[in-house]
Amino acid sequence: MRIFLTGATGFVGRNYLEWVLRHHPDCQITCLVRDPQKAAAQWPQSPRQIRWLAGDLLQPDTYQADLQEAELVVHAAALVSLRNGPEFYTQNTEATRQLLGVLSESNALQRLVFVGSISAIDRPPGLPAQGPLTDTSPPHPNTDYGRSKWQAEEAIRARGLPYVILRPAYIYGPHPRANSSMDKLIRHVQAGAHYTRYPFPGRASAIYAEDLAQMLWLAGVHPAVENQSFFISDPQSVPVAQAFADVARALGQPYVSHEISPERLMRMKRTLLHRHPDSLILRILFEDYFLCDPSRWYQLTGCLPQVGYTEGVERTVRSVGKLNK
Ligand SMILES: NC(=O)c1ccc[n+]([C@@H]2O[C@H](COP(=O)([O-])OP(=O)(O)OC[C@H]3O[C@@H](n4cnc5c(N)ncnc54)[C@H](OP(=O)(O)O)[C@@H]3O)[C@@H](O)[C@H]2O)c1
Repeated sequence: MRIFLTGATGFVGRNYLEWVLRHHPDCQITCLVRDPQKAAAQWPQSPRQIRWLAGDLLQPDTYQADLQEAELVVHAAALVSLRNGPEFYTQNTEATRQLLGVLSESNALQRLVFVGSISAIDRPPGLPAQGPLTDTSPPHPNTDYGRSKWQAEEAIRARGLPYVILRPAYIYGPHPRANSSMDKLIRHVQAGAHYTRYPFPGRASAIYAEDLAQMLWLAGVHPAVENQSFFISDPQSVPVAQAFADVARALGQPYVSHEISPERLMRMKRTLLHRHPDSLILRILFEDYFLCDPSRWYQLTGCLPQVGYTEGVERTVRSVGKLNK
């Protein structure tokens, strides 16, 4: 299989690349990279199956010929942050449109797999989160990041090419990006940050990056999922309080939660949300905000994640060399 991968130097792309090389070593993978030196630092001994292609999604002439030879295209590149700004539309929506423009001339393409985001659907502002998001939830992206990812999805669906869109929830695993939420969580728990000791009631959906890599592979080859969009996460959600405790355990640190009654926590929630009504982090801590239902994907593919949160966090912490044990 000839694969064309975008975002190979990023967190998700790198884990996907490692997974494919381990499980399907016969593939040939062309990786579009803006910075070949960054790729060389990540892969000092570049495997023979990888061809590094220096280029930029916004400059189609840098990748046109290679993209048109690919049978499977995995588009993981994006500007990723739950924030606002015009650059999200350039890097996420416009970059995807440029890729689609080149792909529509391809005779080789069997499927385009797009790494979307839960933030493309999101929740209506001002209403408490009720139940998990499902594949039929209407889109309410609340940030330019989320809107740009939704518009990229819409561009893909409108193009008439064979596609699968996966919308992962929170992704964690080896090679976390500096300043990513997992990187910060590890540092904050390690430093004993006060907020990491509260038994917050929120639950979140998450997926270990190596499990996501397998789902991305299936998205590229499974006959039952073509031309559909799916939420992707471990079916088992993670209580926020457990997210903190598991990181502490993986770090080999003692963890004692603050003793606080549910009523006091609820008062705290009301006060904080009154002061910061648009705070995403508060909604994640106190509500089932970042929760999605991935069951349709698992019904169709029959393939479940292998690594639960407790083990995944331990592997993640070990991968960044912060285990104190
Ligand atoms: N991380 C999460 O928790 C999460 C959750 C849900 C969905 N997602 C989605 O997962 C995908 C990957 O995210 P990530 O966490 O791996 O992000 P990341 O670590 O920031 O990696 C982004 C990658 O995209 C590349 N890139 C950005 N703009 C490009 C362009 N114009 N041309 C070529 N390459 C470009 C970057 O290249 P450089 O190395 O040159 O910067 C990098 O390789 C994204 O689509 C994101 O929306 C992520």
